Amino acid sequence: MPMETALSFEKDEPGADEKTNPCVPVRARGGIPAVNPEPSPHIRLKDGTPALTRPIRPADGAALSRGLRRLSPKGHAYRFLHYRKRFTEAELHYLTHCDFIDHIALILAILDEAGNELDQVGVARCIRAKDDPQLAEVAIVLVDEWQRKGGGTALLMRLARLAWHAGIRQWKAHVLPENLAAPRVLTGIGDEMARTAPRAGLAEIVYRLRPPGAD
Ligand SMILES: CC(C)(COP(=O)(O)OP(=O)(O)OC[C@H]1O[C@@H](n2cnc3c(N)ncnc32)[C@H](O)[C@@H]1OP(=O)(O)O)[C@@H](O)C(=O)NCCC(=O)NCCS
Repeated sequence: MPMETALSFEKDEPGADEKTNPCVPVRARGGIPAVNPEPSPHIRLKDGTPALTRPIRPADGAALSRGLRRLSPKGHAYRFLHYRKRFTEAELHYLTHCDFIDHIALILAILDEAGNELDQVGVARCIRAKDDPQLAEVAIVLVDEWQRKGGGTALLMRLARLAWHAGIRQWKAHVLPENLAAPRVLTGIGDEMARTAPRAGLAEIVYRLRPPGAD
C-alpha cells in the first residue's frame, strides 16, 4: 500500500470505490448514516514513521489503559482536566464500543515497515450532542513522545471527515487556556465560530467543520 504524508492522505481519493472509501455510509439509524469503519491508507508522520488511523475496536481497552499510564501530568490535565489513574471497566466499554453514528473514535497506530501495527499512540473521538444533532464534542490525546509529528492533525482530519458524513457540522472542544496546541490543531480542521471566556478554568470553543475536499 502506498505511503502518503500525514497531511495529504485525507484528501478525497478519486477512484475510491464503496469498499475502500472510509466515508461511505454502511448503515443508518434515524436517517443518520454511519460511516464505514475501515483503516486509513498508510501514512508517514513528520519523522518518517509509518502509521495509520483506524476505528477504535472493543479490543483496544488495554491500549487505552496503557496510554493513560504513558501520559504526562500535562497530558492528563489537557485531556481529562485532572489526573486519571485508570479507567473503570464500564468506561473502557463505553470508550471502545462506538456506533460510528453518534460516537466516532479513531486510533493512531504506529506500524513497522511491513505495515504491521506496533503501537497505539493516540485517540480522537467525537460524541454527538443530545440536544443538537449537528454538534459533537471532540476530544483528542496523543502520548507525549508521539506529539508534534503530525499525528494529531492526521487523526482530526479523518475524524472530521467521518463526522461530516455522519451529519455533524460543528465541533465543540473544552480547552484549558494554557493549552496552545489543541486550538492550533483544531483551527487547521475547522473555523472557530465561538469561544466562551474560561469558566472554572476551562474555555469552550466551537468550530464549524469544512466540507470534505474544501481545503
Ligand atoms: C493537541 C494534540 C492532540 C496535538 O497533536 P500533535 O500530534 O502534537 O499535533 P501536530 O503535530 O499535528 O501539530 C499540529 C499543529 O499544532 C502545533 N503544535 C503542536 N503541539 C504544539 C504545542 N505544544 N505548542 C504550540 N503548537 C503546537 C504544531 O506546530 C502544528 O502546527 P503547524 O502545522 O503550523 O506546524 C497533542 O498535543 C495532545 O495530545 N495534547 C494533550 C491532550 C490535549 O490537549 N487534548 C485536547 C483537549 S480535547
